[in-house]
Amino acid sequence: MPEPIRLGVLVSGGGTNLQAILDAIQEGRLPARVVFVGSDNPEAKGLERARARGVPTFVVAYREILQRFAHDPPQARPPEDFSLAEACARQRLRPGGTEPPRLERFLVSRAAAEAELLAAMRPYPFDLLVLAGFMRILTPYFIDRVNAGCNPPRIMNIHPALLPAFPGTDGYGDTFRYGCKVGGCTVHFVDYGEDTGPIIGQRAFPIEEGDTLEAVRRKGLEQEWRLYPECIRLFAEGRLRTERRVWELPGGRVERTVVVIAPAAPGKAPEHP
Ligand code: GRF
Repeated sequence: MPEPIRLGVLVSGGGTNLQAILDAIQEGRLPARVVFVGSDNPEAKGLERARARGVPTFVVAYREILQRFAHDPPQARPPEDFSLAEACARQRLRPGGTEPPRLERFLVSRAAAEAELLAAMRPYPFDLLVLAGFMRILTPYFIDRVNAGCNPPRIMNIHPALLPAFPGTDGYGDTFRYGCKVGGCTVHFVDYGEDTGPIIGQRAFPIEEGDTLEAVRRKGLEQEWRLYPECIRLFAEGRLRTERRVWELPGGRVERTVVVIAPAAPGKAPEHP
């Protein structure tokens, strides 16, 4: 087993993925320890799951911070080290043409909340930040301060669909309503877009005639609980890095940052038993 890495985890809700990670650590399948669990939601059940395992927790009052900006913009200030021009240039959250004042308000108010999030995380040094059902978009202000140019990046997310299909907040719902015959989940590094980052791993499951949305969600979550610890383990083993790839196609140049997974060291157990 490699040295355990330090995980910071952010949750907004039930925290079943957090539970799967804690269980994988406890059962010796994941060389890691969780150094904090943070949330934007004081009611998140994930916080209870963390406390039950003696993991420190904190809450950042996103709702109140964002309301301050909605009601009293002149009084609400972004963090001192925030540059709106830089945030606008880097973000890939909204397609070009989105009304600029709205986008600016979005980036400024999020940066204010993210500054508090960074401050809450500061007492707990970590190697990898794991988003486990954290329902807030992270902006370049936060991402750059966590990643600081490292390769591989060090924020991971799990998404309830086979990306790049069905980004957004309701991956299983969108998959189901589209009439897909296969659903799935994706673990990826976080970049400046919404659910657009380089893909680390995916798992798929069949959608049978007669499956309800609930059945699709249940099948999907079962895959998530296996996939997330596997992907974190690859990170812990130092087997992940990202690489820029360029293709010259008849329709023009295509560029994409992808994850390259190094083979396991000889004699290691396979990740997919
Ligand atoms: C999961 O479906 C995950 O893919 C999505 O949010 C959900 C979180 O579930 N990002 P839980 O809180 O881990 O139970």
